[in-house]
Amino acid sequence: MTTSNFTKSFIALVLFIAIVGCTETKKKRVINFPKTDLVMENMIPKPLKVIPTNGGFPLDEFTAIYTSKNATGFEAVAKFLAKKIKGKTGLDIPVNVGEVPNMETVIYINQSDSLDLKGDEAYQLYITQDSIILNANTDEGAFRGIQTLRQIIPETSTDTLAPNKIWPVPTGKIIDNPQFEYRGSMLDVARHFFSVEDVKKYIDLLAYYKYNVLHLHLTDDQGWRIEIKSWPLLTEVGGSTEVGGEAGGFYTQEEYKDIVAYAAERHITIVPEVDMPGHTNAASVSYPFLNGNGKKPELYEGTQVGKSTFDTRKDTVYAFIDDVIREISAITPGPYFHIGGDESHVTKKKDYIYFVEKVEKIVQKHGKTMIGWDEIGQADVAASSISHFWSSKKNALSAVAKGMKIIMSPAKKAYLDMQYDSLSKHGLHWAAFIPTDTAYVWHPEEYEGIPLENILGIEAPLWSETISDIGELEYLAFPRAIGYSELGWTMKENRDWESYKVRLGNQAPFLDRMNVKYYPSPLIDWKKSKYSYKEIQKD
Ligand code: ACM
Repeated sequence: MTTSNFTKSFIALVLFIAIVGCTETKKKRVINFPKTDLVMENMIPKPLKVIPTNGGFPLDEFTAIYTSKNATGFEAVAKFLAKKIKGKTGLDIPVNVGEVPNMETVIYINQSDSLDLKGDEAYQLYITQDSIILNANTDEGAFRGIQTLRQIIPETSTDTLAPNKIWPVPTGKIIDNPQFEYRGSMLDVARHFFSVEDVKKYIDLLAYYKYNVLHLHLTDDQGWRIEIKSWPLLTEVGGSTEVGGEAGGFYTQEEYKDIVAYAAERHITIVPEVDMPGHTNAASVSYPFLNGNGKKPELYEGTQVGKSTFDTRKDTVYAFIDDVIREISAITPGPYFHIGGDESHVTKKKDYIYFVEKVEKIVQKHGKTMIGWDEIGQADVAASSISHFWSSKKNALSAVAKGMKIIMSPAKKAYLDMQYDSLSKHGLHWAAFIPTDTAYVWHPEEYEGIPLENILGIEAPLWSETISDIGELEYLAFPRAIGYSELGWTMKENRDWESYKVRLGNQAPFLDRMNVKYYPSPLIDWKKSKYSYKEIQKD
């Protein structure tokens, strides 16, 4: 053997040992994993299709994330995932780092145009013992996909002979796509004001359950919550109160932009609402020429509705509305502007109709699609405007007859501010008591005869007459908002209370980790202990 041949053989031997050694290390890890079943995981909303392969992907300190090059937004999605993995496991997972020594397992987030499922929010996850491949058409789809991944990473690492800690992710294939394109919640920041921080926390929770809209009810009789530079008294006067006599508050335009940007990073669209011509006392106190109810407006801290109205026959009122819609639209990248339009009990019907038709044109002029509560169905509005069904089937069906799309928020089923039962600490019950099962066991797809093809999606509104801090907000919103996420995302055939109830109980470690003060519904067996793979083994 020549020296050179000897060197070659030696290198080959070293390589062989290295490869075999590596394979064995990897195998040893995998073999030690208990059997898994991806179908049994705690995914909410439930994906379209889940095919388990009963192994484990070893998420550990040797895992790295890579994304498609030049795919818009994919690296941001990967970084978001790395941050959430760090929060859950403590692991520092590199993103798109060229040379990582000893790297063994990889998460690829791929832009792929050849997905079976079309649609911006579709994604596919292929999880094997060596890699996780997440394919999506867009960064939005990739973002929805990483929420699924976050949900199936175990809460605790498994015991292993290896010195490093491993979080085994169950293997298999997930193919997913939402049923409805609009999946929202609304937060009333007018009756009680909620800080930017509170709104961001709510956005974080919504994003985890694949919501894509947060509708902000920014104005009402008790408060005006968004800075309008051309009409400064709106916030100076109209923003100074709230229900119960507390100090109120408002978002500067910079703060609103911050909320919009925070939501956009989570692929959530903000829908701003300026409620009119009723629910306008705070505006009329600030600028009394707006008032149309014939009385001198005064600041209001009660909870009655239906007493205020704009003067619908004054040009100056429409000049004011034009400024408001222009300023808010300019800092709202989403396609929608919600004009309220509900409960205008002191506006004459013909004035109401005249008003809605005029305001629709203003919204369109500023490049937005108008949404209004179902009463707008009485006016001659365009098929492109959207009716927000909360109360009147008749109004919603009039909107359908005009070819309009409908957002489903029937108060009896979808209002987050309804009490769970008569013992609930917060909330009202004028529409119904809505326990956790009632909130889930109904079908927005076939409710009150509204045709499926007209349904844009579902929204769960949270009115804030009875809640004034984030803990109270969470008590009413959770767990019901989790169920509404499944009604919006998952097809009816794939929904089932018995399965949902178990998956919901298993959300407790996440909700606890996020310090969410959810209502511990007695219908649910809440998993208080930390998630553990061993427990799954015993099942
Ligand atoms: C509403 O609950 N007034 C829309």
